[in-house]
Amino acid sequence: MKKDRCTAIVLAAGKGKRMGSEIQKQYLLLNGRPMLYYSLDAFQKCERINEIILVAGAGEEEYCQREIVEKYRFSKVVSVVPGGRERYHSVANGLHAITDCDYVFIHDGARPFLTEDIIERAYAAVIEYQACVVGMPVKDTIKVVDRQSFAVDTPERNALWQVQTPQVFSYELIRKAYDLLLEQGDEAAVTDDAMVAELLLGSKVKLVEGSYRNIKVTTPEDLKIAEAFCSGN
Ligand code: CTP
Ligand code: MG
Repeated sequence: MKKDRCTAIVLAAGKGKRMGSEIQKQYLLLNGRPMLYYSLDAFQKCERINEIILVAGAGEEEYCQREIVEKYRFSKVVSVVPGGRERYHSVANGLHAITDCDYVFIHDGARPFLTEDIIERAYAAVIEYQACVVGMPVKDTIKVVDRQSFAVDTPERNALWQVQTPQVFSYELIRKAYDLLLEQGDEAAVTDDAMVAELLLGSKVKLVEGSYRNIKVTTPEDLKIAEAFCSGN
């Protein structure tokens, strides 16, 4: 039987506004290496993954190629492509750089604690369901609020998961969903890839257990947590 071809798209084209640092968060050093190194390293070392597409900020492609891909010898990175204004533009650019594959793993370059276990759990789910996202049950009670911040609802906590990445799809399915999204030009509310598949194709997306360590480094507090994880605390 033909082996599935798996491609990872690693997103590193964000501006990191909430981090507020001078250099974008994906290049900040964690334990001596740029944050972006860690997710690329996880995909590089995982046999399941054949190729990696790195989406860098427009104009930063050469820097990424030299200072990340070549410096750390990420031989699976087949292209470094420019990102776009919003995350979904960057994803669309990544998808367009793929020539042939069966499954696509879309991952935030700002999530350095991706593991092989997570990749394998997601793979097992995507071959069965065609669309899956990694996440974890929420720990806090979540309130729905109105525009004045008054609580209007308290959804049952057992039914709530926080979504992480990778978000993994059959290539055909996610390509079709993103093409439709860009065609319709009604992308304002899109915050993750699963939403694109849910809204545009009515796909059922399976949630797969990630890890509470698989955090997205978003604010300076998250950077402290990430540093603590790196030093084994
Ligand atoms: N991302 C991207 N292209 C964009 C926006 C985001 O590739 N136009 C990437 C980021 O680099 C990050 C991931 O998507 O790896 C998740 O986004 P987020 O945490 O929101 O990062 P930023 O957009 O950089 O941060 P902020 O929203 O605070 O500006
Ligand atoms: Mg953002």
